[in-house]
Amino acid sequence: MDVMIIKGGTPLNGSVATSGAKNAALPLLFATLLAEGEHSFLNVPFLKDIDSTELLLNHLNCKTYRDGEQFKVLVKKPESIVAPYDIVRKMRASILCLGPLLARYGEAKVSLPGGCAIGSRPINLHIEPLRQLGAEIEIENGYVIARANKLVGDRIVFDFATVGGTENIMMAASLCQGETILENVAKEPEIVDLAQCLRGMGAKIEGEGSSVITIEGVDELTPANHRVIPDRIEAGTLLIAGAITGGDVKVTNCVPKDIDSLINKLVDCGFSIETGSDWVRVRPCAQWSAVDVDTAPHPGFPTDLQAQFMALMTQAKGTSVITERIFENRFMHVQELARMGANITPKSQVSVVRGEKGGLSSAPVMATDLRASASLILAALATDGETKVSRIYHLDRGYENLEVKLQGLGGQIERCS
Ligand code: UD1
Repeated sequence: MDVMIIKGGTPLNGSVATSGAKNAALPLLFATLLAEGEHSFLNVPFLKDIDSTELLLNHLNCKTYRDGEQFKVLVKKPESIVAPYDIVRKMRASILCLGPLLARYGEAKVSLPGGCAIGSRPINLHIEPLRQLGAEIEIENGYVIARANKLVGDRIVFDFATVGGTENIMMAASLCQGETILENVAKEPEIVDLAQCLRGMGAKIEGEGSSVITIEGVDELTPANHRVIPDRIEAGTLLIAGAITGGDVKVTNCVPKDIDSLINKLVDCGFSIETGSDWVRVRPCAQWSAVDVDTAPHPGFPTDLQAQFMALMTQAKGTSVITERIFENRFMHVQELARMGANITPKSQVSVVRGEKGGLSSAPVMATDLRASASLILAALATDGETKVSRIYHLDRGYENLEVKLQGLGGQIERCS
């Protein structure tokens, strides 16, 4: 199993480009199930989660391959509409095949994804709306078994603005009979990207990016031809990497407004931030101040940047109160940061971080989930010694060549087997 060895203490400097967004690419690839034929995407990142998606699509009779810059999906009618446990357990987002399979083929059998390190993560907000559209859904032997002769549009009000739930229902509603009005939906940039792609496939969707999305169902969709948006979480992580090392880093190929909430917090900390149409630059800051953060659905502060921001707060002047409002158990990185000397008191959904510049020291640490891995690497870059981060297979799920990108900025980081 690979580990990452990081020698900290060097300010990162230079320019680094963001890859395509994992959380945009996954729903887009599942959306291909809505239309037979050859779909083509640009900017699909090289990630383990993309491999897992390919595995599932291949199982559903689709051919996936890269052709130069293009990522192609050749969709054919599946022989089996089953998404098996062995594939789904590797990646929770596999549940996103439920809506498309049901809408296109009238049935789907998808393994329940189960919980994960950051919380129980139920899928009730995927299932109930599909029932409302007319699907019969049972849970049997660990599988969601869904059937529908036809799905008929309805008004659906989500209890919570779930990202995956919104995406699943948007995809299903695109092939529904009549109009579907989705209220209290997620407004994340990845939702907007999915809507744009679906529209390119012939779907009639309006309102993405606001809390109400209206979809007039069509009989048929055509294959997609779409470019995946840049990864805002990767962009934010790279920006924090620059900040925590006291470096001067320009993150290119990103959409600055998609990380406004992070940029605002960095400015509150005292960092000088410059933005262009598709880049953000953080300048060196000798001592930044602690600020409080509450995670929230977009455009609030993303839960997917909470762990990385916490690493930055361990080096701030003062005390930062970090409140996690999206997931119930997303402070797994706290214990590992504490092993490196961080002074953090976690209590339920709140962590109190007492910052101290130079207060981190190197220690062997273990990644517990995707964003926690990034947080530990950032913390390691801020120490003076050598840190070994193990279980970085979590990192490979969602960051494309992070160590290569950090090396390009002068970071001393090596992947070792
Ligand atoms: C997506 C992102 C993930 C990000 C999260 C929140 C992808 C592939 N993953 O995950 O990186 O951290 O959004 O921004 O895009 N919930 C329910 N019932 C449901 C669905 C969700 O109670 O049926 C709860 C979850 O347990 C969680 C909250 O709603 O507490 C948010 O989950 P959701 O927005 O659905 O996240 P994901 O789509 O799983």
